[in-house]
Amino acid sequence: MINFAHRGASKYYPENTILSIKEGIKAGASGVELDVHKTKDNKLVVIHDEDIERTFKGKGLVKDYTLRQLKEFKPRNTVFHDNLECKIPTLEEILDIIKDPNVKLNIELKTDIIQYDNIEKDVIDLVNKYGLKEQVILSSFNHESIRKVIEIDNTFETGLLYEKEIEDVVNYAKAFGATAIHPDIRLVSEELIKEAKEKDIKVNIYTVNSPIHMRILINAGVDGLFTDYPDLLNEIMTEVNE
Ligand code: G3P
Ligand code: CA
Repeated sequence: MINFAHRGASKYYPENTILSIKEGIKAGASGVELDVHKTKDNKLVVIHDEDIERTFKGKGLVKDYTLRQLKEFKPRNTVFHDNLECKIPTLEEILDIIKDPNVKLNIELKTDIIQYDNIEKDVIDLVNKYGLKEQVILSSFNHESIRKVIEIDNTFETGLLYEKEIEDVVNYAKAFGATAIHPDIRLVSEELIKEAKEKDIKVNIYTVNSPIHMRILINAGVDGLFTDYPDLLNEIMTEVNE
């Protein structure tokens, strides 16, 4: 089972930064989850929201800033204000540190609100440039983005994110050509996990931060959990497997 550090070790470090991602891997995560947007000058950057205000000291949309301008913003958490690994990273900077071939990388295409020109192709090209295709899963709440990914290259692993019930979701994913479903934890049942397994669709669940849910879902045979506490999940996985 993959322990995905959700936005890195985001409970302890500023989310979606080089620092939180490095620390997630150090804490024993076997996967990393991050979110991708595009800048005004067409660069792929790693940040969760469309705007910078919640996580950085500044205002405005990512798409309205150049990369150089975005790099000026300091993280909102003052403890990490001057930490150079807590600036808004490019996707390329993160691919540079995912050297361990055993670490999976879930790149979430944040196209739910803003449509970025060619973001799907740009991400695919960059992942291929780094030779990381086998380690990467591309996911999105916007299933049209996943459709574009499949049209470009149907051998990429793809995950359909959803936060509201989708009728007959396993067959929906199968017909879509996706390799995984990525449900909100509230939408998961043991029956769903069982059906997905039978139909060869992977199940990666977000965001799982409580030990009780971690234990139940590990025992139910899920493929991956996204957690803000990769250290905790690592401990529980070790205990369950003993
Ligand atoms: O990819 C799983 C999870 O990150 C989706 O929700 O809002 O944290 O990006 P969100
Ligand atoms: Ca995400």
